[in-house]
Amino acid sequence: MKWKRLEWLLLALVFGLAACSGQTAANPAPLTPYPTLDGIQVARGREVYTQRCASCHGQNAEGAPNWATPGPDGALYLAPPHDDTGHTWHHSDRVLYMTIREGMGDPLRSDAPLRMPPFGDTLSDADIRALIVYVRSLWSEEHRLYQWRETLKDFAPTPTPPP
Ligand code: HEC
Repeated sequence: MKWKRLEWLLLALVFGLAACSGQTAANPAPLTPYPTLDGIQVARGREVYTQRCASCHGQNAEGAPNWATPGPDGALYLAPPHDDTGHTWHHSDRVLYMTIREGMGDPLRSDAPLRMPPFGDTLSDADIRALIVYVRSLWSEEHRLYQWRETLKDFAPTPTPPP
């Protein structure tokens, strides 16, 4: 009887360990090498950012003053920061790319005017990608790794518009 109990205990231990390792398997280390930042893209991204984005998102991507204060309708609609204090680093490359290309509106009111204009007609694919690399250069190592994992987990690759 005693032995039986020990067997159960061992079995529980094995399952317990399997469950723990399952947790780490859900967020594995990226298989694709973590990309290093390309200095030319960072510089180009910074240039485009200053010309096209800084007026709303701040010279150093610090966001509009009071961006975190909800407007009269209770929603956040001022341009958020792109540095570590914002939430840009939560999104995959595809989501960032689509936001820049298509602009951004109220997700609950598709008929409302966009809060951020679309840049798909005036920025090249290379410039949008450079912008993303520039923004990445503003993040801590931890946030960059997080965002890289989000990019790898995304259901679709970052789009490339037709040539
Ligand atoms: C006219 C002001 C304006 C300009 C110019 C602008 N944005 Fe925005 N952007 C916004 C606003 C406002 C939001 C938030 C929209 C919302 O929450 O509905 C936003 C949101 C974003 C987001 C989503 C952030 C997140 O965490 O969800 C990204 C990425 C972004 N902008 C990038 C850019 C880039 C890159 C440029 C320059 C090419 C740019 N924006 C130019 C106003 C602007």
